[in-house]
Amino acid sequence: MNEKKIGVFCSGGDAPGMNAALRAVVRRGIAQGVKIIAIHRGYQGIFDEAFEKMTPRSVGNIIQLGGTIIKTARCEKFYREEGVAEAAEILKKHNFTGLIAIGGDGTFRGLIELQKHWDGQIIGVPGTIDNDIFGTDYTIGFDTAIDTVIQMLDRIRDTAESHERVFIVEVMGRQSGFIALEVGIGCGAEAVLIPEHPINLREIAKQVKEAHKREKKSVIIVVAEGVSNNKIFEFCNKLTNQEGLEFKTHISILGHVQRGGSPSALDRWLATRLGAFAIDCILEGSTGIMVGEQNHQLVKVPLKETGKKKSIDQYAYSLIRDLAI
Ligand code: F6P
Repeated sequence: MNEKKIGVFCSGGDAPGMNAALRAVVRRGIAQGVKIIAIHRGYQGIFDEAFEKMTPRSVGNIIQLGGTIIKTARCEKFYREEGVAEAAEILKKHNFTGLIAIGGDGTFRGLIELQKHWDGQIIGVPGTIDNDIFGTDYTIGFDTAIDTVIQMLDRIRDTAESHERVFIVEVMGRQSGFIALEVGIGCGAEAVLIPEHPINLREIAKQVKEAHKREKKSVIIVVAEGVSNNKIFEFCNKLTNQEGLEFKTHISILGHVQRGGSPSALDRWLATRLGAFAIDCILEGSTGIMVGEQNHQLVKVPLKETGKKKSIDQYAYSLIRDLAI
């Protein structure tokens, strides 16, 4: 019987729990007789032939570490068809029989392209703080990120309340509002602005004024980066200078602090189950799928479907205003 030789890599933005997923892939794989090769720095590592044969000890004492010990990258070359074809040739030359990629939507788009040039088994494991992958209720890293952001927002609330200020806090999430919505609910934000809903600046300015009339001492407005599009200062100016409704505000951009840190218990649980399940899928011959979790059950989702738009929780969104009275 031919031994399976599986490459595993992390790609795109790092997310807490990637190491836990890597550990599960390596140990479940080796325990089941699979050769596991780590590819360093995502897709770039294929071109650089940055391969490392893994042993159970290679992933010792990493389950609690944030980031990824095998590094990650965004690889320009892999966006081009010639790059993908070249990567496929390298995988053939080294006799890889499959790949497990831990990453987000960009990573999965890369896998779909690779399938056109390479017939090895391809499995995606959803790892991104954004939680914007269709087909899985949660992605690895999201739970830790929202805990981190909520801690920051609690601190901002302390100073906002003491100085009786309005704060606008920009959080990550690309074109999705999952982080903004969950942290907005978790910290009792007065408003949450997400790309999934149209934004009426005048209406928000009115809400701030009304909050002051109701003697609220502090106001926190959480803005998803997909709303401000890297122009949070301009966005803020427009919001705070609505005619007759002007107000002062402080801006806080949380940035990459949201991506770091030791993974939460939930992220370790999710990452471990998904990593091990990716190996099980390899062993049963699956390919072209993402492993995910729906209603606490492990599922396989065709990679092609993972790019669909995932819906936010409309009910939670509808509560924000009532809960801020
Ligand atoms: O996808 C994860 C993420 O943190 C997004 O929320 C954010 O827009 C992006 O990555 C930032 O990427 P980079 O670290 O490459 O600037």
